[in-house]
Amino acid sequence: MCTSLKKKIMLVFGTRPEAIKMCPLVNELKARSSIETLVVVTGQHRQMLAQVLEVFHVIPDYDLSIMKEKQSLFDITINVLDNLKGILEETNPDVVLVHGDTNTTFATSLACFYMKIPIGHVEAGLRTYNVYSPWPEEFNRQVVSMISSYNFAPTALAFQNLIDEKRNSEMIWITGNTVIDALKTTVKTDYSHSELVWASDCRLILITAHRRENLGTNMYNMFRAIKRVLDEHSDVKAIYPIHMNPLIRSAAKEIFTNNDKIHIIEPLDVLDFHNFLSKSYLVITDSGGIQEEAPALAKPVLVMRDTTERPEGVIAGTLKLVGTSEEVIYNEFTLLLNNKDVYDSMAQAVNPYGDGHASERIADILEFGEMRH
Ligand code: UD1
Ligand code: UDP
Repeated sequence: MCTSLKKKIMLVFGTRPEAIKMCPLVNELKARSSIETLVVVTGQHRQMLAQVLEVFHVIPDYDLSIMKEKQSLFDITINVLDNLKGILEETNPDVVLVHGDTNTTFATSLACFYMKIPIGHVEAGLRTYNVYSPWPEEFNRQVVSMISSYNFAPTALAFQNLIDEKRNSEMIWITGNTVIDALKTTVKTDYSHSELVWASDCRLILITAHRRENLGTNMYNMFRAIKRVLDEHSDVKAIYPIHMNPLIRSAAKEIFTNNDKIHIIEPLDVLDFHNFLSKSYLVITDSGGIQEEAPALAKPVLVMRDTTERPEGVIAGTLKLVGTSEEVIYNEFTLLLNNKDVYDSMAQAVNPYGDGHASERIADILEFGEMRH
């Protein structure tokens, strides 16, 4: 009987940002002949995940299709655990790679822990040390660090967080963030889009918002502040590719209906979004990943959160935490639009998140036990 000597590496992911950061790694691993690569998507996101898979030409081997409208944290965790068990038993991977801090990541890691399958954590070591901010992501990523065998830290700060938590330094590598790998392939100088033509006579504000802890009052505060600023500036237009969560959609509809300064559009695929980002004047968001992309493109970001696990961008000067109070967001947004010195000091091209070779480094470690790039 002939048994394969290839190392079997499974990647499990389910949401848009995980897919954006894991697909470059999937393609890198698939190019390595000594590795057998298996891709499992949980389908925690349905349409927003499909958009990314299409851009990166990744076809999953398994799809758990767990998404439900207005799903709860219980729904995601239970359904991932339940559906993944049989696949892990059937395929018996040598290592399972997870990304970041979603419930897909947490539940997959828990399943692997129960089955004693080694876990590799991509984007390890990000911390706020407040388990309610972001919620539930800070809990998810801390738990994964307790049980993962390979820790791929994007920055020196993330590495240090893991060292401070007494994790074994021999199992932590600083690789850079795979989002920079993705960004290298998406941004084009000759890109055009009808929405950008609509905004071309103005300064373009790009908006996104989705954090679970911001649903409800905080989100209304955020939207009201943005509306006031848009109404007061004739040379500004906003594009808001809105998350598919129905709770966010109803809040945005309530505040922005009949407002001709803002276009609320369907989620952009990642190629479009990165190009919108590169053509924008500034970004206002509660997203995690955008805090990594914007510094690489020298775009100021107002982060509508009280904490960030990405202090590198704050230190670099590109990001500013503005919380979720209507008055503070209104004041900070107005200042950034009206004060060119403040704007220029934030619009610096500092990229603390790597050189675009993170996937190669992670693949090297998995293949050879060390980085060769
Ligand atoms: C999830 C992650 C969060 C990550 C975010 C990225 C958890 C707990 N949360 O939050 O860490 O930052 O993704 O966007 O893991 N929906 C659709 N179609 C889609 C995607 C979502 O209809 O393609 C709707 C569904 O009604 C779904 C709801 O949005 O129930 C919320 O999705 P969910 O994944 O639970 O939460 P996110 O806020 O997206
Ligand atoms: N993004 C996208 N289309 C959009 C909005 C965002 O492709 O319409 C990308 C963005 O470039 C970033 C990622 O989605 O890479 C961020 O995802 P999200 O804000 O949903 O999650 P988070 O990063 O907060 O976990």
